[in-house]
Amino acid sequence: MSKIAIMGAMPEEVAPIVAKLDDLKETVYAANTYYEGSYKGQEVVVAYSKIGKVFATLTATMLIEKFGCDRLLFSGVAGAISDDLKIGDLIIADGLCQHDLDITAFGHPFGYVPEGEVCIPTDITLRNIAKEVAEGKGLILKEGIIATGDQFVANSERKEWIGETFKASALEMEGASVAVVCNALDIPFFILRAISDSADMDASFNFDEFLESSAKISADFILSMVDTIER
Ligand code: ADE
Repeated sequence: MSKIAIMGAMPEEVAPIVAKLDDLKETVYAANTYYEGSYKGQEVVVAYSKIGKVFATLTATMLIEKFGCDRLLFSGVAGAISDDLKIGDLIIADGLCQHDLDITAFGHPFGYVPEGEVCIPTDITLRNIAKEVAEGKGLILKEGIIATGDQFVANSERKEWIGETFKASALEMEGASVAVVCNALDIPFFILRAISDSADMDASFNFDEFLESSAKISADFILSMVDTIER
């Protein structure tokens, strides 16, 4: 039977999911808590990584290599770049890039290192399942490139630069790490984010206010996807 990893970065991002699991078992490993359980008969392993690319890389790797997950769904919040994304809106990544990866001094484009890719695409089957779920629920699901970096962006100039350089619609701090790990290990993955702020001068204030509500919007959607995914 397949085992689905559900990952977030912060406790608020996974709490609404853990609360719905049956047969819950907690395991502490490598300074992370992993919640094994089932949702409507589907085996899942849920964890939050802590914020940022390094922690996210560690957790995604463990979910696959130690806990044996064969698909990974990420749920969480993001800052909007695109003007048509408002607080609470859902966006799925069609690809992820690292906006803070920079060896341009050697003539390479931003986000690129040799043997890597600027933008790693997410699994098309999982994206299509998300679209079906959204249609069934009458929800609008935006789709676009999500840019990841080890920075909380609260600056309009930086956000616009990221938007122009990577053609990105939203930004966050973990998605591209999950993409690198899953791509290397050949694990289908999916990144969903609900908007918590607009990565501008009000971002930290908005983030604090909307983290919980936006995280819940994303988590509820992920649970509906698990329900739809064929076992
Ligand atoms: N996640 C949510 N909002 C963010 C922001 N403004 N910068 C980075 N990550 C975020």
